Amino acid sequence: MATLTTNLFHGHGPGDHRLDVVEGHWPDDMLGDVYVVGPDKRRPGGHWFGERGLVMRISCRTDSTGRIPVRSRVVRTPVLRIRDRMPWMFRKIAFADVSPLGSTNLANTNIEPINGRLFVGYDAGRQVEIDPETLEYLTPVGANDEWLQALPGVLEPMIAVAAHPAADEHDGVMWFVNYTPIPSFDGSPTVYLARWDMTGPIERWPLTGLPAFDTFHDIKASSDHLVFSDLPFAAAETLSGQPRTPNSDVTQLFIVAKELVRSTPAGQSIPVTAIEIPMPTGHLMVDVDEQDGRLRVFLEHIPLSDLMIMLTGGEAAHGGGVIPADYEGLVTLAVQPGVVGRYLIDPGTGEVVESDIAWDDRFWGPILATRDRSTVDARARGGRLWFGGAGFDPELIPEEWWRLYGDGALNHVVDPSDLPTESVPGALATFDLDAMKVTSVHQFDDGAFPSPPQFVPRVNADGPDDGYVVAMVHRDGPKELVVFDASHIEHGPLARATAADFCPPLLLHSTWLGPDRPVRPDYRIPLRRDLRSATGQIPAQLRAMWRSGKAMAMEKRKAAKSWSAQTTGGASRPGTPMP
Ligand SMILES: [Fe+2]
Repeated sequence: MATLTTNLFHGHGPGDHRLDVVEGHWPDDMLGDVYVVGPDKRRPGGHWFGERGLVMRISCRTDSTGRIPVRSRVVRTPVLRIRDRMPWMFRKIAFADVSPLGSTNLANTNIEPINGRLFVGYDAGRQVEIDPETLEYLTPVGANDEWLQALPGVLEPMIAVAAHPAADEHDGVMWFVNYTPIPSFDGSPTVYLARWDMTGPIERWPLTGLPAFDTFHDIKASSDHLVFSDLPFAAAETLSGQPRTPNSDVTQLFIVAKELVRSTPAGQSIPVTAIEIPMPTGHLMVDVDEQDGRLRVFLEHIPLSDLMIMLTGGEAAHGGGVIPADYEGLVTLAVQPGVVGRYLIDPGTGEVVESDIAWDDRFWGPILATRDRSTVDARARGGRLWFGGAGFDPELIPEEWWRLYGDGALNHVVDPSDLPTESVPGALATFDLDAMKVTSVHQFDDGAFPSPPQFVPRVNADGPDDGYVVAMVHRDGPKELVVFDASHIEHGPLARATAADFCPPLLLHSTWLGPDRPVRPDYRIPLRRDLRSATGQIPAQLRAMWRSGKAMAMEKRKAAKSWSAQTTGGASRPGTPMP
């Protein structure tokens, strides 16, 4: 029997809880709140990513009765409010949600703070701002016509923006990667770098020099550069029902100089520096300080993982048996240990001057990591990273994963033929980013695992990385919040807190906001303007689609002609189908 807890997609959505500290002492030198966002998936079945966003706010301080207040609310954008009233108008296709209004922004993936404001990200939608106190929806970032639209819509065109923007405290702006996953056949730009000064319009620059890509999910800013990577999320292949092929086993990393952005008027193209690094990447981190003109980039590698392979109840598991229905919807977490790579890069030439990776056999199935980003010093140069993982369960490897990756032909750290035969428990691990070593690991019992972990600084901290790691623990029965001393993960939790009816679903990213909440500027995109800016774009969008369609048909005719010439000339038929 699988050992990973089956309590992933059961339980409650929005609500309020007060958690009792059932063991240990909850630290009294933490302030502010931890926020977690993820799909509000309350029952197994369908894709994990295909539900609307649920945001949870966890107070770091206990209340007057010694309990921990937790508030959860769904994100209520205008389209999601319409969906509540008229669900019959909406359909799910794998992890996407569509209607005559367009492609629903599910606002369920990432939560990003900057200057006391909070933004929820979704890879196929704009960032939306929520109120850090009430968790109420406030506004989208940028009207529909301020972005490159991938597909038209009456109210919500599909606007692909990497769910992780770069919150650039150094310059007081946010940076975004805005793109279309639909390849351009008529020469129009497919990827833009976008900048927002937090109050005005979005500015965009088309990027040149990028090779073919699946999607983008994460961008980060240093003092002088922007860095983003591709994510092997083969959405187009899955949505079109094509047979799956293995993901890319490399990271494509892109660098843009801020100086070039400053000197280039919005709308004019900017070249990127592209670098290829072995093993794909889920998320990245960049030290804000550049030393000797070199960028220090950390990549959370996800070798042999495939976010498109969803566990399905009753489907064949590798080695015999079937996947139990309780796991249905979960993606295939990395069937490898958690790997962090450190790369010292010359941003001018793209040369990787130094590279190193760290992993540990006690830490498998990495999900999400956290770092201290609470101060200028902490952001300047990272010292540690805390990574939560679900472990490894040999009974939860879908046969489809084995078919695609079991031969070990792609970059990995443990060959599929050497995978453990026994379960490896879920764990929280500390990575020392200077020594590039896993320095401490705490493993959880009975199929439990921590996700997400979140660093919270200690009041009057001695310096970067002085604080705590708060983590949600998914386990059988009521779920728990645990808190660790960030310097001593190996000692186990300092305290555990729970309540009999506390059972949130498996969510995604988290962040921390301190207690200071500056007055928010009056920024809002009125619904009427958003509607106008969606419908106003439809004719131009349809013309672009028509031009692309024509160009694609010409490409196909040209390819067929060339193949015919080859075969009549005696050349052998190629081994792969012609386009
Ligand atoms: Fe993410």
